[in-house]
Formats: sequence, structure tokens, C-alpha cells
Amino acid sequence: MIVLGIETSCDECSVAVVRDGFDILSNEIATQIKQHTPYQGVVPELASRLHTEWISSVVSNAVEKAGISFDDIDAVSVTNRPGLLGALLVGVNFAKGFASALNVPLIGIDHIRAHLYASQIEKPMEYPYLGVLVSGGHTVICKVNGFDDLEVLGTTIDDAIGEAFDKVSKHYGFGYPGGVAIDRLAQKGNPNAFLFPGPSLHKGEHPYDVSYSGLKTAVINQLDQFWDKKSEKSPENIAASFQRTAVHILMKRIRKALEDTQLNRLAAGGGVAANSLLREQLSSLEGVDVAFPSMKLCTDNGAMIAGLAYRYLKEGVSSDFHLTASARVNAFKHSYP
Ligand code: KG4
Ligand code: ZN
Repeated sequence: MIVLGIETSCDECSVAVVRDGFDILSNEIATQIKQHTPYQGVVPELASRLHTEWISSVVSNAVEKAGISFDDIDAVSVTNRPGLLGALLVGVNFAKGFASALNVPLIGIDHIRAHLYASQIEKPMEYPYLGVLVSGGHTVICKVNGFDDLEVLGTTIDDAIGEAFDKVSKHYGFGYPGGVAIDRLAQKGNPNAFLFPGPSLHKGEHPYDVSYSGLKTAVINQLDQFWDKKSEKSPENIAASFQRTAVHILMKRIRKALEDTQLNRLAAGGGVAANSLLREQLSSLEGVDVAFPSMKLCTDNGAMIAGLAYRYLKEGVSSDFHLTASARVNAFKHSYP
């Protein structure tokens, strides 16, 4: 079964061709990073406009690179939730027209589930496993019982982890996207130059929840308060100290979740799963089998959409042509009956 996967939920216009759920024949990612860099963040209106301009050629490139023709496509899948509404609508409407012209099934896919599924394309793992979704919009620790069955254990009570990377980077002018810039700077910094407040949450809050607004405020507004004056107040040291604390906050909750659930398998996903320190610390969890997506499958991509779509399609599940996009959806309920 050859599935086309379309992803336009944010600033990547991505289209992939995946055969039988696991064989990625192509995964084209046209990123809009350059166009959003002057604003140091994604401008929703600009994102939608660029998706509209680019989508046809990204689809053509993906099909050509896969070495197939349009007639070989058995189904069209598309991210339809959650994300920037205008951006999602470009992908959804294109997918509807395309599936209709080819007379093949159409299926709308949840972006969050797809991130959590991405590693499974390359390294399938037995269910259940602990799922860790870390991206610009979400931070979720969950028990994944099946591709359509997630039990949320914890989430962020304020900023997403990637958002904290992006805001700190924007404040200090480290570069865009923030996570990539901080990861790079941190390689040359001292992670103990600033001792930022770590993972404490107020009593009574959920044991697996995380919070990033305190860390963000400390780094942006109270830098001197946490500075160990023996070290230099350099971008490298700020980045390394922030990154160390951001990862520490998450790892503490992950360790507790693994201990309490007795799970010995973990799969990470989302843009921040590309972070070198997080990958290193997850990999060194003792007695835990850890799966990460390769770098190209961490950030937004069409392959994870087509890969997950295959699982639904195999069960006979598809969407009808009333499919629409939704900026926010509770992704953690079963998405299909
Ligand atoms: O999954 P993604 O592409 O889009 C969303 O669904 O949000 O994630 C984007 C996020 C951004 O916040 C970006 O700064 C972050 O992933 N990111 C990283 C790294 N690469 C991307 N954060 C930390 N370290 C990285 N190496
Ligand atoms: Zn994403």
C-alpha cells in the first residue's frame, strides 16, 4: 500500500511517500525557516501563503523522488489537527482535491500522535511504551498502549519545552530556530555557570507535569541572581546552563513515570527530541529500551503522517470528504471509533 503523507501544520511544507507503512520512498521537507527568521518566530499568515505557493511542487517532487506515478498512490493522508488553522487548511484542502482526483481514500491524521509514532517507522517497539513528545507546541509524557491509544500521564502546566528554547534564544539573539541555536552554543559552554531553579513544582500538582515558565523567567529576567561569578557571562554558558536545567526538569519526570509504570521501553518524538543532551540522557537510562526518530523524522515531516495513516488504513479506517482542520483538539482520546 503506497500512502502519500502531507504535513502543513506549521512552518514545514512536507510531503512523503511511504510504502507499506515502513518503507520511506521519499520525504520532502520544504522549510520556511528563512522566511520567518526576520520575525524570530512563525508568522501564521505568511506560513499559510507559502504553503499555498509551494504545496503542488512539493507533492510533485515527493512523487518523482519516490520513483512512482500518481496512479500508484493508494491513499492520501494529511495532518488536520492541531496546528495553525490557516496552514492546516492548505494541506487538508489540497489532500481532499488530490484524493478525489485519484479516487483513493483520504485520512486526516493527528499531528501529536504522529510525532509519538515517528520512531516506530524506523524502530518498531512492542506496546505499551512510555511516549515522550517534546516540541515547540507540546510537552507530553504518556503511556502509549497502541497507535490510537494514549494515556496522558503529564504535560506542561505553562510553556512547552521547545517554546522555552525559542523564547530564551529570541531574547538573547542566539538564532532561529531557538532549539537548534541553543543546542549548538551549549556544546561550548559550562552548564554550571548559572544554577537556574530546577524541577520543583508546587505541592499538589501532578507528579509527571512539567513547568517551563519559571526557568524561562529566571534565564531572561533574573540572570545575575543565578550566576556563579567564577564563570563568564557568555552566550555559550547561558545556553549550556539553560539547556542542562530544561533537560533536567523533563528527565526527573520521565524517571518517575518509568519507575511508577514499570515500563522498560520509551519512544521520544517532536523537534526537541533532536536535542543532543536529551538524546544522551535518554540513551543512558539503565534497563530501558529507547527509540528516537532519526533527525529528519523529529521535526515536522510527511513520513510520520503517512506511516501512522497506514496503521489506520489497514484497519479499514479513513475520513470522509467533510474532513476539516482544527487548531486544537484533544488528541488523547481515541481519534477514530
Ligand atoms: O516538532 P516541531 O518541528 O514542531 C512542533 O510541532 O512544534 O518542533 C519545533 C521545536 C522548536 O521549538 C525548536 O526550537 C525545537 O523543536 N528544536 C530543538 C532542537 N531542534 C529543534 N530544541 C532543542 N534542541 C534541538 N536540537
Ligand atoms: Zn510538530
